Amino acid sequence: MSTATATKVFADRIGRIEVSATMAITAAALKLKSEGVNLADFGAGEPHFSTPRHIKDAAIDAIEKNFTRYTNVAGIPEIRKAIVERHTADFDSAYTPEECVFTTGGKLALFNAVQVLVDHGDEVILPVPYWVSFKDIIQYAGGVVVPVETSEAENFRVTAKMIEAAITPKTKAIILNTPSNPSGAVVSPEDLEAIVRLAHSREIFVLLDECYVYLNFTGNIVSGGSFKDCKEHVVVLGSLSKTYAMTGWRAGFALGPKPIIAAMSKLQSQSTSNTASMVQRASIAAVSGPQECVAEMRVDYIKLRDQVLEGFKTIPGLTCAVPEGAFYVYPNIKSFIGKGGITSATDLAAKLLSEAHVVVVPGEAFGTAEHIRLSYAVSHDVVDEGVKRMREYFASLG
Ligand SMILES: Cc1ncc(COP(=O)(O)O)c(C=O)c1O
Repeated sequence: MSTATATKVFADRIGRIEVSATMAITAAALKLKSEGVNLADFGAGEPHFSTPRHIKDAAIDAIEKNFTRYTNVAGIPEIRKAIVERHTADFDSAYTPEECVFTTGGKLALFNAVQVLVDHGDEVILPVPYWVSFKDIIQYAGGVVVPVETSEAENFRVTAKMIEAAITPKTKAIILNTPSNPSGAVVSPEDLEAIVRLAHSREIFVLLDECYVYLNFTGNIVSGGSFKDCKEHVVVLGSLSKTYAMTGWRAGFALGPKPIIAAMSKLQSQSTSNTASMVQRASIAAVSGPQECVAEMRVDYIKLRDQVLEGFKTIPGLTCAVPEGAFYVYPNIKSFIGKGGITSATDLAAKLLSEAHVVVVPGEAFGTAEHIRLSYAVSHDVVDEGVKRMREYFASLG
């Protein structure tokens, strides 16, 4: 790439984003693992469960039957129908298959929704702490992130009042993720309804990331799609990754107003095209088949959360808001900054990895400087071992 003149190589937009912090920590952990180091790995946000048998069988059957060709860009009619039927049954929403696009993972649904809605200079409201990719995806589109601080004392819960205070004439969209990655916070059904109604009345779009909607532990679950009269300004972003332990399959979807779904499909037609054909068949088995697996996994996540929180109580100086969903805890580590040469959450995460062989993600990636994120989608033994290592490490700091 050497040039005689100073030719600019990269477009501005690629300079507006960073490598996903979770992926960076995963790479560092993988390197240690390949060297034979035994890690307590709370880094990557993915279920430790295997994909249920009937879902795998559906994919194998599709391949055996040579269902291996291009499909409609937005997904075969059967998958779009299956998704909207599942959503209607679980959340009393009212989408038609034309209001659904099937995507290569929930992340692509989010990316495409932001690309088709957010223009240069548009403001997008984003509660803090936020999932790493939200910020970068907004910035890649040229949007301006408007962070909304939440209170740790209130378990990082987002309220309608907080959102309303951040709205300006330039607000184009609000991104909500409930239950939240990284905090596990859940927006109450009342606040969710108030936010959706507020946005609808101001003609602002709510992009509702429902990747963890089935991992809501409160027992009181609503979707952004439940408020049918506000549908015009709601885009639901869904994923099969966490619900059905299908992270590697890359299966996600968006539900929203027909013109927005059509625009997202148009964008998809010029980039990834259809999601892998056999994945679509497997996804039909996932959303239309028995749902017991979802409930069983949820029960285990609740046990794992409680086990982690109990374990944290044995670590002096570590405090932790109680997560109400997803599979993350977001403890506060500020009492350790300054001890044993620790300068920041990033520094602590690096030292936990190299010295205690515990993988965590530093809070800076999620917009807060005094936290670390642990994914407890691991076995109960790993939780015990990881908490023990953390306790010993923190005690060694004096
Ligand atoms: C909040 C949130 N949204 C979306 C995703 C994307 O999931 P996928 O692209 O695997 O469907 C993730 C994955 O970690 C997530 O945490």
